[in-house]
Amino acid sequence: MQIARTKAEIRKLCTQWRDPATPVILVPTMGFLHDGHLSLMRLARQQAGPEGRVIASIFVNPTQFGPGEDFDSYPRDETRDFDLLRAEGIDAIFAPEASEVYDPEAQTIVETTELAKTLIGKLRPGHFRGVATIVTKLFNIIRPDAAVFGEKDYQQLAVIRTMTRDLDMGIDIIGAPIQREADGLAMSSRNVRLTSEDRAAAPILSRALDQAEAMAPSGITASRLRSHVRAMLEAEPRARVQSVDIRDAATLATISGPLTRPAVILLAVSFGKVFLIDNRVVQPAQEIP
Ligand code: PAJ
Repeated sequence: MQIARTKAEIRKLCTQWRDPATPVILVPTMGFLHDGHLSLMRLARQQAGPEGRVIASIFVNPTQFGPGEDFDSYPRDETRDFDLLRAEGIDAIFAPEASEVYDPEAQTIVETTELAKTLIGKLRPGHFRGVATIVTKLFNIIRPDAAVFGEKDYQQLAVIRTMTRDLDMGIDIIGAPIQREADGLAMSSRNVRLTSEDRAAAPILSRALDQAEAMAPSGITASRLRSHVRAMLEAEPRARVQSVDIRDAATLATISGPLTRPAVILLAVSFGKVFLIDNRVVQPAQEIP
């Protein structure tokens, strides 16, 4: 496993590896890896085949954190991450410093204008601009054939798919299912920062999603389903509900009236200072074309 700290080093490797018969697949992360991240590595390894190359990037991207967010306290453990990636048979890691990634004179951004403003974009202004810009830079530095992103960050996946399509990036975007702890809590690097009381309360997110999934095929309207989920979350005194949204699973458009197509329920809930998200795609009683 090769470790590259500079753009020049990773570019050199990728140039050597570029070959139509052997894909290069990128898995971007911010490190402090858990089984959710590792499931992405396994999917990439499987998609790349025995001859293909898998590159993981580890970079806590400052431009996607707002003022007062947790950039400084974001957990980091590079040595452990490298060991985990080595055990997964990853071919190379790109783990640069921020000064290597961003030119001090940089003035170019990438933004999905509509998608960046809605849902989590409202709670975290500028977040998706930071994500779209760093992912574009990683794509340009590494020039992979494909890249893997988790469905845990549903809106992020939509942003990346939209940007890749709109800017003709020609990179396959592969979505990977949400990995959960035994009690249903979606795995996240931020879970370690929950107090033990909050950790015990946090599975309310997945329980609320289980209930919503069971209710969705009953012909219920989106607004009633949303109220039900919100009430269930608000019944947990430790949870500070930031947002509950039900959107079209394919487009993230708002829905009114009964569900007629697959919908995604998107939750954002804080426990103390820890911001957690989760989501579930649910099916209507009958899909109306
Ligand atoms: P990070 O939060 O480290 O997540 C890296 C990837 O792992 C993302 O694609 C995310 O959706 C996926 N992931 C996280 N938890 C998961 C889980 N429980 N199950 C499945 N996949 C999971 O997302 C980012 O970093 C950054 O925004 C990044 C794309 C790297 C840009 O900086």
